[in-house]
Amino acid sequence: MEFKNLIVDKKDGIAILKFNRPKALNALNSETLIELKAAGEALNADKTIKVVVVTGEGKAFVAGADILEMKDLTALEGMAFSARGHEAFATLENMEKPVIAAVNGFALGGGFEVALACDIIYASDRAKVGFPETTLGIHPGFGGTQRTAKLAGLAKAKELIFSGKTIGAAEAYEMGLLNKVVPDDQLMASVMALAGKIAANGPFAVRLAKECVNKSLSLDNKEGLALEAKDFGLCFATKDQKEGMTAFVEKRKATFTGE
Ligand code: CAA
Repeated sequence: MEFKNLIVDKKDGIAILKFNRPKALNALNSETLIELKAAGEALNADKTIKVVVVTGEGKAFVAGADILEMKDLTALEGMAFSARGHEAFATLENMEKPVIAAVNGFALGGGFEVALACDIIYASDRAKVGFPETTLGIHPGFGGTQRTAKLAGLAKAKELIFSGKTIGAAEAYEMGLLNKVVPDDQLMASVMALAGKIAANGPFAVRLAKECVNKSLSLDNKEGLALEAKDFGLCFATKDQKEGMTAFVEKRKATFTGE
């Protein structure tokens, strides 16, 4: 996969998708959003890939949507720009495999919103996150107003968004916005260890688990449990379920094929 603003590397069933506009701290312009959607769709279709890791080149994860591109937008263009971000991030959120954000530095505005669209967020202890949008006369437009409160609660989300303040990784972790904070030089090793652990599990089971957990936010309990029962049953139609349980009985490690 060749892109202008992204680098995609694949190894051992794990893809690393890296934002690569370091001179602009990986700010998201329309071109990058279009590439992100294309890369997400291609990785979703790639059966050899079990887990996707998203990170940034240089000192930033992503320092937000591109302010130079947004500066002179009309209201309709602003709406279209927001929709372009939503579409691109939906490819991460709805990908049929887990997506882990490795937040290596600044994750501000649209940059933090990329991370929040991922399934799991590990951050360097040097990372800084927040929503500076209100300091620019706008508010988060790539999902931040919707996804933040689901993790941190309404009051914390409002404080972060209304103030526009930037906070350190430790504070963001305390707020429930991050899964883990690790020393900067151990970030990628920690993320790859987690990715490897997930990649060794039954891909179909992980995929359905992601669907069930994601939908738990929008379904009522009865509908959610019905979905869980259906997806649980579907697992029994796979070779991986037979292999996983047979391996347990035979006291050996399971080898999953995704069938
Ligand atoms: N858009 C465009 N360019 C950006 C950018 C952004 N979001 N963030 C950084 N850059 C550019 C800078 O303009 C600078 O370019 P030049 O070298 O050409 O001047 C380059 O990246 C390096 O940045 P700095 O010199 O500012 O680096 P720093 O280390 O001094 O500061 C920073 C780092 C605190 C992250 C600072 O760059 C900053 O505040 N960036 C903007 C953060 C921001 O406001 N993000 C939210 C954007 S709005 C949004 O995301 C809307 C939405 O929800 C859809």
